[in-house]
Amino acid sequence: MFASMREDVAAVKDRDPAARSSLEVVLLYSGLHALWAYRFHHWLWIHGWRFLARALSQLSRWTTGIEIHPGAQIGRRFFIDHGMGVVIGETAIVGDDVTLYQGVTLGGTGKETGKRHPTIGSNVVIGAGAKVLGNIVVGENCRIGSGSVVLRDVPENSTVVGVPGHIIFRAGKRVVITDPKQINDPLSEALAAVATEVKALKEEVRQLQGRELAPTNGNDKLQQAIEIDYQI
Ligand SMILES: CC(C)(COP(=O)(O)OP(=O)(O)OC[C@H]1O[C@@H](n2cnc3c(N)ncnc32)[C@H](O)[C@@H]1OP(=O)(O)O)[C@@H](O)C(=O)NCCC(=O)NCCS
Repeated sequence: MFASMREDVAAVKDRDPAARSSLEVVLLYSGLHALWAYRFHHWLWIHGWRFLARALSQLSRWTTGIEIHPGAQIGRRFFIDHGMGVVIGETAIVGDDVTLYQGVTLGGTGKETGKRHPTIGSNVVIGAGAKVLGNIVVGENCRIGSGSVVLRDVPENSTVVGVPGHIIFRAGKRVVITDPKQINDPLSEALAAVATEVKALKEEVRQLQGRELAPTNGNDKLQQAIEIDYQI
């Protein structure tokens, strides 16, 4: 137990440049307090003391601002930085060396029963305020941008941003989005539809005037961006 606690303290010192000493980490890091409390509550939970586990976890939530359901499964060297507003649901599974910032939710969509919370692979970083919802899998070594809402599986080694979340980097390389539906955002589809319409209208005008379509000028930023990004 003490080896595991030392490991937790070292993980905080490794990942937070603001952490100056082990004493400071032990006394002042509410993420660490919530983690240690969770480990005890989880032990009670798996040994059948479920009401007590829940009751004590509510007390821990009250003191740290971090709510970890005692039924969740959390790996080694878990680090919650700042912590306030973090919620981790009952059927969430978290790998080793995972970092969460304040306001992260590993929650359900409200539509599922049974395993309804995400599974987070090892070495994942989830930015402040991100929501990862449903029985989805976030692969190892992923980074989830702050404020993202992730509703689908994320392959390993990916960086995801946005609402809904979409992949911007995969294995260190920028992902070029060729289909607006990959972003899964109604606005991107609307922009793509407008761009297609504008292109068709330009073609009609060209035919009516009986001349070649003038090359896109520098001011036509929307058309340019959509043609490049979405290959329309
Ligand atoms: C997602 C993240 C990991 C990406 O970092 P990165 O690999 O350095 O990527 P970049 O900063 O080069 O950004 C790449 C693109 O994604 C966009 N982007 C980055 N983070 C974003 C976010 N959270 N939401 C939406 N878009 C984001 C950038 O604007 C940029 O877009 P562009 O290339 O079209 O201009 C990082 O931005 C992030 O959100 N980290 C979380 C940190 C955090 O929560 N800190 C809390 C401390 S208290």
